Amino acid sequence: MPWDANSSRPDSEATVLVRSGGGSSTTEVTQPTGGRILIVDDDRVLLNSLADFMRREGHEGIVTTSVTGALQTLDRNSCDLVISDVKTPADSDFELLRAVHQRWPDLLVVIVTAAGTIESAVRAVKLGAFDYLTKPINEGALRLLIQRALRHASVLRENRALRRQLEDRKKLDNVIGQTYRMQRVFDLVEAVADSKATVLMHGETGTGKSLIARSLHYRSHRRERPFVEVSCGAIPETLLESELFGHVKGAFTGALADKQGKFRYAEGGTVFLDEIPCASPASQAKLLRILQDKQFEPLGSNQTFTADVRVILATNVDLQKEVAEGRFREDLYYRINVVNIELPPLRERLADIPILAEHFLAHYCQQHGRRVLGFSEEVLQYMQRYHWPGNVRELENCVERAVVLTRNRHILKEDLPPQLLQTVETKARLLAASTARPLPLKDELAEPERRIIQAALDANEWNRGRTAEVLSINRTTLYKKMKRYGLLSPNGGRC
Ligand SMILES: Nc1ncnc2c1ncn2[C@@H]1O[C@H](COP(=O)(O)OP(=O)(O)OP(=O)(O)O)[C@@H](O)[C@H]1O
Ligand SMILES: [Mg+2]
Repeated sequence: MPWDANSSRPDSEATVLVRSGGGSSTTEVTQPTGGRILIVDDDRVLLNSLADFMRREGHEGIVTTSVTGALQTLDRNSCDLVISDVKTPADSDFELLRAVHQRWPDLLVVIVTAAGTIESAVRAVKLGAFDYLTKPINEGALRLLIQRALRHASVLRENRALRRQLEDRKKLDNVIGQTYRMQRVFDLVEAVADSKATVLMHGETGTGKSLIARSLHYRSHRRERPFVEVSCGAIPETLLESELFGHVKGAFTGALADKQGKFRYAEGGTVFLDEIPCASPASQAKLLRILQDKQFEPLGSNQTFTADVRVILATNVDLQKEVAEGRFREDLYYRINVVNIELPPLRERLADIPILAEHFLAHYCQQHGRRVLGFSEEVLQYMQRYHWPGNVRELENCVERAVVLTRNRHILKEDLPPQLLQTVETKARLLAASTARPLPLKDELAEPERRIIQAALDANEWNRGRTAEVLSINRTTLYKKMKRYGLLSPNGGRC
């Protein structure tokens, strides 16, 4: 059936909701399946016909008579497609098309035009409209166009989802490290991320414990649910229990209203408990119960809640020592010590410093709108000779500071913090002093030689013949050296 304003049919009362917006009327035809299509036209009779068609085709049609109404509708609803008459009043120079492209770049717009205004429809397509239809609208052509547009919209949606996934990966890939020890950490993260296992991390401040905890969460099926980090050391011991498990009004002085704790808030997600040794004995007991039975009660309440929460913990002190000294529950220690991730200090993975520094350089150049090309060789040497007590956090701050302060195209020595320069230079001076006058070569080699001979003797049960053979020296030479180094065999040198 060809369609024009005169061939339209009246509204079906049972399915039509009427609301108004922006001085124009907006009519919503609710339909559970198909696409959601916004139709914009000042011709109410045509709108009704199109709405009727959408309903029959299984789409949800939202109709409006003005550009303002259309934009308001799009603000409130996510639509798959907009069908707009090119002559809609107040749409001078494709205002709606331009606004849609600016605010919802993936939303498709189809232009409807009368036979005499095809040039402007062609212009609209050049401006980015998906396609155009001419009046009178042919039902078959409209059906095909909508199918094509919805398929295209679904491909765009998929692309967007893939892009988001890629960005998520990038977020995880932001954990930088090429040294063997960091690669081992990444393998472990990969292996346990999507499991139920409780993870305990150990590492000095700034080594990336929080970053890895987030990475574990985003790699698990819990990624759409909350990730909640609680720094147990930053909350007074008396408040931590209520912070984690919640309380009811009147549970303690100052509990003026019920409070939902982090474990309820994170339901379905992950709770990351940093500085776990700071947790009070009461909190430790409750935590053990959550890990064992998945149950807890808020402070002052008899109501038991079940928690579906993955728990990750971190400490920068030796937890075993805390147990031995009675500060941490032994049963809790064994319960949380399932998967252990050890984050090495930066000074023990010097080879990661250049790539971390480059990573932070790119990040902070973008953040501060600076253009710095890299680091001088001298700077990289200074960085690799420093001991980084604040680990990666300190390196990150050092690079940000240099990006902000430098006047050079490369980060130079003078852009590094004076305290870092001083520490490295003092260390170098001390080292130079200690190696200024080396011992004669014979003396320098004595200690390694003694160790080699002793090891060979041990391996050959102090049998001098076999040892001399293994070391490719004659028995007399071996004997002389043994004498020189005081290496008497356990049975008095009779072998
Ligand atoms: N391997 C890494 N790759 C990239 N950035 C890192 C890495 N490790 C740490 N960082 C960055 O260093 C900073 C400190 O890391 P994070 O907060 O995870 O350390 P932490 O071990 O949790 O420290 P704290 O014990 O003080 O809580 C963060 O900005 C983090 O993004
Ligand atoms: Mg942290």
